[in-house]
Amino acid sequence: MRDGPKTADLLDWYDAHARVLPWRVSPADRAGGIVPDPYAVWLSEIMLQQTTVAAVRDYFTRFMSIWPTVQDLAAAEDDRVMGEWAGLGYYARARNLLKCAREISALGAFPTTRAGLQALPGIGPYTSAAISAIAYDLPETVVDGNVERVMSRMFHVETPLPDAKSELTALAETLTPQKRAGDYAQAVMDLGATICTPKSPACGICPWNSDCLARRSGVQAELPKKKPK
Ligand code: ADE
Repeated sequence: MRDGPKTADLLDWYDAHARVLPWRVSPADRAGGIVPDPYAVWLSEIMLQQTTVAAVRDYFTRFMSIWPTVQDLAAAEDDRVMGEWAGLGYYARARNLLKCAREISALGAFPTTRAGLQALPGIGPYTSAAISAIAYDLPETVVDGNVERVMSRMFHVETPLPDAKSELTALAETLTPQKRAGDYAQAVMDLGATICTPKSPACGICPWNSDCLARRSGVQAELPKKKPK
C-alpha cells in the first residue's frame, strides 16, 4: 500500500537516524524547504556505483570544492578530472561523467524527467530514478543491493538473485510514497547499510521488525538467496 504505515514508520526512523552525508540535505532541512542540488545528487550517485560510502566521501567533497557546478566540471581538463578520480576505480565512470557534464552544460540545465536523464551518458535506470527521487522528489523507486536485501527479508522472498530482481523492485515500489520518495529511497539504503546488514542484522532496533516476514520465520540472515555462479 502506497503511503501506508510501513513507509511512515521508516520515514519516522529516517527523520531521527539519517546518516549525515556530504551530498545529502537532512530531513529537517528538506522539511524547511531546502532542495538538493541535482548536480551533487548526480555526482554522488555516479561515485557510489560499485563503491562504498566510506570511499566516496572525501572524493565527493573534493570534486565539489574544485568544480562546484556542472558548468565548472564541463570546462575542466580531462586529465585533471581523471587525476582527481584516481583511486576510485571503474574509470569509465569518470570519462562518462565528463561527457555527461558537457552535455548538460550544453543543454543549459539538468533534465527534469527520467527519460531526459536517461538519454545522458552514464545515466541508466538506477541513476535516473535516484536523481528523480532524491533531487526532484518524484515518486520513483530506487533499487540497489541494499534495497534488494531489505525487500527480500521484509517479504520473505526465497527466489534467488538475480532472478528475484523484478519481484524485489515491484515490492519496493509498493512502499514508495507519493511524497518524500527520495527520503524513502535513502532510508531503505541506510537501513540496509546500518541495520539490515548482510550478516547478523540488528533486528532489535529495526523500525520494521514487527512487519518483517523473514524475521517471523527466523530466516532473515539467510536472505537474499543467491544463485551459485
Ligand atoms: N548509495 C547509493 N546512493 C546512496 C545515497 N544517496 N545515500 C547512501 N548510500 C547510497
